[in-house]
This record gives sequence, structure tokens and C-alpha cells, in this order.
Amino acid sequence: MVCIDEKIRSRSAKVGVVGLGYVGLPLAVAFSEAGFRVLGFDIQQKRVDLVNQGKSYIADVSEARLSSALANNLVEATTDQSRLGEVDAICVCVPTPLTKTKDPELAYVISESEAVSRYLQKGQLVVLESTTYPGTTREVMLPILERSELKAGQDFYLAFSPEMIDPGNKKYTIKNTPKIVGGINHESTKLAELLYQQVADIVIPVSCPEVAELTKVFQNVFRSVNIALVNELAHLCEQMGLSVWEVIDAASTKPFGYMPFYPGPGIGGHCIPLDPYYLANKAREYDFHTRFIELAADINERMPYYVVSRISDAINSKGKSLHGAKVLVLGVAYKRDVEDVRESPSLKLIKLLREKGANVSYNDPYVASVRISENNLRSVELTDEQLASADCVVIATDHTCYDYKYIARKSSFIFDTRGATRKLRNKNIIRL
Ligand SMILES: NC(=O)c1ccc[n+]([C@@H]2O[C@H](COP(=O)([O-])OP(=O)(O)OC[C@H]3O[C@@H](n4cnc5c(N)ncnc54)[C@H](O)[C@@H]3O)[C@@H](O)[C@H]2O)c1
Repeated sequence: MVCIDEKIRSRSAKVGVVGLGYVGLPLAVAFSEAGFRVLGFDIQQKRVDLVNQGKSYIADVSEARLSSALANNLVEATTDQSRLGEVDAICVCVPTPLTKTKDPELAYVISESEAVSRYLQKGQLVVLESTTYPGTTREVMLPILERSELKAGQDFYLAFSPEMIDPGNKKYTIKNTPKIVGGINHESTKLAELLYQQVADIVIPVSCPEVAELTKVFQNVFRSVNIALVNELAHLCEQMGLSVWEVIDAASTKPFGYMPFYPGPGIGGHCIPLDPYYLANKAREYDFHTRFIELAADINERMPYYVVSRISDAINSKGKSLHGAKVLVLGVAYKRDVEDVRESPSLKLIKLLREKGANVSYNDPYVASVRISENNLRSVELTDEQLASADCVVIATDHTCYDYKYIARKSSFIFDTRGATRKLRNKNIIRL
């Protein structure tokens, strides 16, 4: 029998990717481009059909790349979990959301582990990629997988390897972003390292899955805490009558010991607003309260409320009220140049503005419609009339395709939460 390591080296191994979303689909295509046959799994029939038709729904995967993988018979997608037995390695990229009370929701990881355990084969490598708290691979996944009566580390191999992708980032991709791997034993780490060496230039083995799990969450906590720090600075700068943008630009000239983070209307996406809670929650098991995480979450989650109160004050200073005002929000994606609206602070902003009686519309070249409090809103065209008729234009996401000079020229009043207009001199612009 040919062992999995030889199959990986000769690229005859078949790779299973479970969860064909922002993380899974680019990974599946990367393995196919390295010459592996890939079987993608998803519970959404629609996604599976689109992949099999060569139609990409993830901006980072072009249709040309997906179609070429299909033409070479290297990628296939299915909803049939019984086919998990066909592959040599299984990379699990399912969602790890929070419950309403912001506790880790591992239901996807658990149900997928149950599916894998039903079809687990001797010699298979299973890797969890979903972001989660330290201990998930060993404490949650491993016992479920061993219901198969196969022994982890001996009959099959198990590791954690966090996905580090940054959607929309053209410079750093799976290939040139170092990949961390930590297995439950030496053999598992070695196999996972070998597998990812086929798609990533640098693979960094660590001593155990817990280190790999904590590394990923720590990276996200690092961002959350630093964003909270500049958000707090933005509050202070407003009180002091200084521009936080000018301070950050000046501070960024220091070539060492400083890294710029920017304030904004809040944090969004599937990672930064959620993952720190995974660690905070786990820490309590150790009688430990992660104060930085809680403080950062508090500051960041207050930002949409702060922005709405600043908009309300600004409109008030013009002798109008937010109630009944026409507000045009530019950008509902959670960050620039992507179409992802998950946890987007713009959605919270729109909801809060509407609750205060504002008449809110939005434009986003990447997002045709959004659902806010049971209502569907459609993106309006960005015309001279839309801009001129708004009592306030809120720059909520700083997409690079926006022509900010034009927007400033046509609008009577702008509230810029992203510093997108900081190079413009215009007395009708108020910045965070
Ligand atoms: N989006 C990012 O930028 C990013 C970056 C790094 C890490 N992560 C982490 O990666 C994980 C996945 O995130 P994502 O953004 O790709 O999520 P996503 O929602 O875009 O994709 C997840 C996919 O998994 C599918 N799915 C759910 N349960 C399944 C099951 N049992 N079997 C098969 N498919 C299943 C869903 O239908 C969906 O298509 C999360 O833990 C996230 O925190 C995300």
C-alpha cells in the first residue's frame, strides 16, 4: 500500500476540502493548481453546483482559475459526505461563529467531525483550519473522530493549521503567507507540514495543535486591541480638536517600533469581531479574565453608536435633526474592495440611523442588496442627485473605486469614518 506521504510527494494524493467559502474555495483551487485532485464538500447545493459549473462566488478566485481546474479534471464539488472516504487528506474549513450571547458556536465543527468519523479511513490526514480556541482539535474533534474506532496519531493523523488569508489582498495569498501547522503527534505534524508545503512557500511546524490554535486567535486579538487603541485615540482627538488621521500619518513615519492601525465605524468580517471571544471564553476555564480582549471589544463595539452621535450632532449644528434627515451611506462591505458584509459596522450604522428616524439609503459597488432588520435595501446609483439631495453622506467603507474628489464636490455635508478624504480641503467634511 502506498503511504499518504509518498502520495503527497508524487502529487497523486486526493485532497478533500470541507466548506467551500472564503477560506475553502481558494484552498481547493490552490491544491488543484499544485497538481492535486481536489474533492470539495459543502452543505449548500447551490455552492456545489456553481463550483461544478466553474462559476466562482468568491472574489479571490477568478472564474478563469476555477474553470481551468475543472477543465483539467482536478476539482469536483459534492454535498455527499460519504465521499470523504475517497480522499487522502481532509482540510476542514467550516464556519466558527458566536452564539447570540457571544459564546463559541462549534456546531459546524462538531457536525463535520461526526461526518468525518463515519467515513474515516486508515492512513487519512485530517486538518482543522477553522479559527477556534486552543483545545478544539484535541478536546472536541479527536474524541468524535475516534468514534470510528481508529486511533488518532496511529491509524489516522490529526492537526490544526489556521488559514491566514486576507480576502481582497492581492499581495499576500496562500502561496506567500507562512502557514502554521501543529499536529497531535510528530507524525501528524510532519504530514500536515508536507501537505501544505505543496501550496505554501513557507510552512512553520509548531509543537502541538494548541499552539497553532492560539497563534491564530492571538493574531486576531492583536488587531482588535490595536484597532481599539486608535478608536480611543479618535475620541480623544475629537475632544482636543486634533485630527487623528494627521497624528497617525505622522506617527507612521517612524521606521521602527510602530505599525499603523486606523480608526473606523467599528470592526467587521468573520474574524476580528468574533475570534477574540473564543479565547476570552476558553480563558475562563483557567480562572483567567482576558481584560485586553474585553476592553477592546467594548471600545470597538461602541464605535457605531459613537459615529451616529457625531453625525447627529453635526446635522444638529446645521439647524436640522437626524430624525427625517436624508442620509446616504457609502460602502456596506466590512472593509474596502470586498463584497463581504458579515458583521459589517455599516449595517449597524444603518440600523441605528434608521432607529433615530433618518431616511437612509446606501451605495456599494460590490454589494447589490443587504438585509437590515427584516428589510431588504438595494444599493442606489451614485449620481449627482443622490449626493446633492443627501443631508449627510457617510463614508463607511473606503472602497478605492470611489472618486472622493467628485463625492466631496457634489455633497453638501460628508461624515468620513475612514479618513478617505483626509487629503482634501473642504469645510463640508467632518472626519472621525
Ligand atoms: N474569511 C476570512 O477572511 C477568514 C480568514 C481566516 C480564517 N477564517 C476562518 O475560516 C473558517 C471558515 O470561514 P469562511 O470565511 O470561509 O466561512 P464561509 O461561511 O465563507 O464558508 C464556510 C462554508 O462551509 C460550509 N459548511 C458549513 N458546514 C459544513 C459542513 N458540515 N460540511 C460542508 N460544508 C459546510 C458553508 O456552507 C460555507 O459554504 C472560519 O473558522 C473562519 O473564522 C476566515
